[in-house]
This record gives sequence, structure tokens and C-alpha cells, in this order.
Amino acid sequence: MTKVAVEGNDFLFKGRINVPADKSISHRAIIVSSFLTKVTKITNLLISEDVKSTINCFSQLGVEFKEINGDTCVKGTGIRNYLPPQNVLHCGNSGTTARLLSGILSGQNFSSQLDGDYSLRKRPMDRVKNPLEEMGAKISTTNGKLPINISPASLNGTEFNINLGSAQIKSAIIFAALTANSETKFRDKKKSRDHTEIMLSNCTENIRIENDAIYITPDPVVELGDIDVPNDPSSAAFFIVAGLINHDSELIFKNLCLNPMRIGFIRILQTMGADIEIMNLVEKSGEKTGDIVVKSSKLKSIQVVGESIPAIIDEIPILCLACSLAEGESMISGAKELRFKESDRIKTTVTELKKLGCDIEEMNDGMKIRGKEELKGALCESHGDHRIAMMIAIAGTKAIGRTIIKNAECVSISFPNFFESLKGFRKKIQS
Ligand code: S3P
Repeated sequence: MTKVAVEGNDFLFKGRINVPADKSISHRAIIVSSFLTKVTKITNLLISEDVKSTINCFSQLGVEFKEINGDTCVKGTGIRNYLPPQNVLHCGNSGTTARLLSGILSGQNFSSQLDGDYSLRKRPMDRVKNPLEEMGAKISTTNGKLPINISPASLNGTEFNINLGSAQIKSAIIFAALTANSETKFRDKKKSRDHTEIMLSNCTENIRIENDAIYITPDPVVELGDIDVPNDPSSAAFFIVAGLINHDSELIFKNLCLNPMRIGFIRILQTMGADIEIMNLVEKSGEKTGDIVVKSSKLKSIQVVGESIPAIIDEIPILCLACSLAEGESMISGAKELRFKESDRIKTTVTELKKLGCDIEEMNDGMKIRGKEELKGALCESHGDHRIAMMIAIAGTKAIGRTIIKNAECVSISFPNFFESLKGFRKKIQS
């Protein structure tokens, strides 16, 4: 139980900031590498608690991991040759691990059991169980949640027409479809992050994207080169806002994943008046990457509605902080999904920002925020949610006095050296 204190007005956000590798792409890099028996080298794999959960689960399935010169070398088994796990597959805090793994395990010829920590046990799993059952999976949940049991089953290619906007559900279905007995067609009216489709399209012809539909044929022939994971825009989001709301900032972020479904947040901030420049755009293995420069900015309010939500889902807590210091009244709506994340992020964001003096109101599907000039330091609680802990810390850099974050250790879920990085920008240390 770690308490961390942040002093307000003690930071100068100038220079280069190294944010960790992308969490979503890291999970998928491990999963797709497991489809090959040849060794895949993954450069810049995120080693955080969530990704360690995926590594541990795949180790139990017979996949081998070795660190060589800072890279992670993965020797897979093939999608039909995983070893039956001897123990429960523990997904820790990671919803992505639990849901994507459910897809991969549904069509195997062995049984498996998935479980998670206190927070993950509270998150809905029916949303993945139901579509997988439609394909023929044999899954039982505990009142719609973890632990779940998966029995051997043979899956049928299935046609999905959904309106969910969840990358986790889409990816679970795509991975399950690779073990089915015929083609699956998947269409989601709401777009969500597309790293699974991009990575698979790069290494196999068993996936085809036509118009707005994804076609998946089973038993992929995979030809995969090395994978180089770009840095995580969702982790960068915290320092982007730190740069914007504090004086005299000029922060440079290199090699960020700039997939359009991941930078909705940057686009929204730019509409609010943020000085964020995107440069050196290149495509690496199908993913857009590049550098950004962020400078202190005077922000104005914004209205964010339902259809933009999937592209900013993980950034809403920190966006609320930006709105709290913007001129005018902002509203975020159509974001009920936030209630099912690592914490109920509508409630936890509103509760903690209120403690810091923000004028923010909880709605059923979002929040209303009236901008202020000033925040005040407070004793805050992470609720065990990494993104809430980091949001509070960034608010603390701008608040008058001291902010204390209780249970701050959860930042290691996605950004293990977050507090060291933040400390590097303390004025006294820089001068
Ligand atoms: C993720 C998808 C998102 C996101 C989560 C990671 C992924 O969830 O919130 O942090 O890697 O697929 P949904 O798309 O299911 O909402």
C-alpha cells in the first residue's frame, strides 16, 4: 500500500519524456507470436503487470519466453498445440488478457479456468461468453464474471453483426474464429481499436477486411517477422495533459503509436486549443507511429458524445482533468462503458477530482465539468486503478499545496516507472 506525495507548482515539463510501450499491442504481439513454432523477436515489449499476466498465462500453455539483449524472444506452439494448463490461468488485473484468452481457449481440445484479481472479478465477462457460445464454445462464468471455466469444444464459423465498439470482444471473436471449422464474418457498427486486425493482416492471409466487415478463416498460416512495439499514447496522455496545464512546458514524445483509433484524445485536445504538433509520421508494420511536441496551452471547453468514445475510452479520466482547467462548461456523454473498467471510472474520476476542488458532476453515462483556474492539493485514493492514480498525480502538479495518492503502486499495471518519470521534471532536480 504505497502513498505518494506530489507538491503543486514544483514541476517544469520541458524536454524529452520516454513513455512505455503500448499495452494493447504488447498483449497482441505475445498472442500472435504464440501461433508460430519459430522464435519471434519482440522489441520494446511493455513489461508491466498486465502484460506479465499475459506472459504467465501463455507460459502455462507451453509458450517459451527469453530475454535477449533487452528484446523478448517468444517460441510459440502453434494455435492448435498449446499445452493443457496445469493450474488456473491468472489474468491479474488485465481485462484484455482474460477476454482475448477466452477467445483463444474456446476452441481448444482441453479444459481451462481463468481467474483474476479483486477488480477483474467484478468486471463483466458475459459480453465475451455470449458471442463465443454462439460459435459453439462451452463456457461457464460465475454470475457473469470470473472465474470462468472453458471446456473442450469445436467452434463453428459464425456471422456477427453487433453494435458494441469493444476491441476486446472483437479480438476474442477473431482469435476464436482462427480455431473454428469455417469462415467467420464480423461486423461492428461502432469502430474500436484495430491492432488485432492490423497485426494479423501483416502476417497471414486468413484475415480479410472488406468495407466494414472482417472475414476470418481458421488455421492461419502465419509468417511473422520481428515485432517492434511503438510507445503507448494512453500512457503519454498523462504527460500530455501535464504539459498543457502547467506553465512553460515543451515536451517531446518519440515513437508514439498514432493509430487513429488511439489518438481521438489528441484530436479533442487540439479542438480545445491545445498546442500539440504531430510530426515524423511513419508506418511500422501497419501501425502509424510518430513524434509529438506539446506546449503549455489555454484550453476551452468541449462536448464529447457517444460515437467518439471508443477512440478515447482510456483517456477520459485525464481528459476530465484538462476540462476542469479549461474555460467554460464541458460535457462527456455516452460513456457508460467507463463504469466497467478497472474501477467505475465515472464515479472514481468525479470523486477524486472533487476532492481536488474541481467542479465536476456525475451523470449516468458521463460527466459535466465547469472549468476553474485553480485546484487544491488533497488526500486522494487510486481505487486500485492505474489511470486514476496517474490522473490524480498530474492534477497534483497543478494544485496548490500537497496531493497524496493512496494505493499508488497500481501505476505498474501500465506505466511501471511513472513516478520516477514525473520526478524527473521537478524544478529543483532540473536546475
Ligand atoms: C483494450 C480495449 C479497450 C481498452 C482497454 C484495452 C484492448 O477496451 O479500454 O484498456 O487492448 O483491446 P474495450 O475496447 O473492450 O472497451
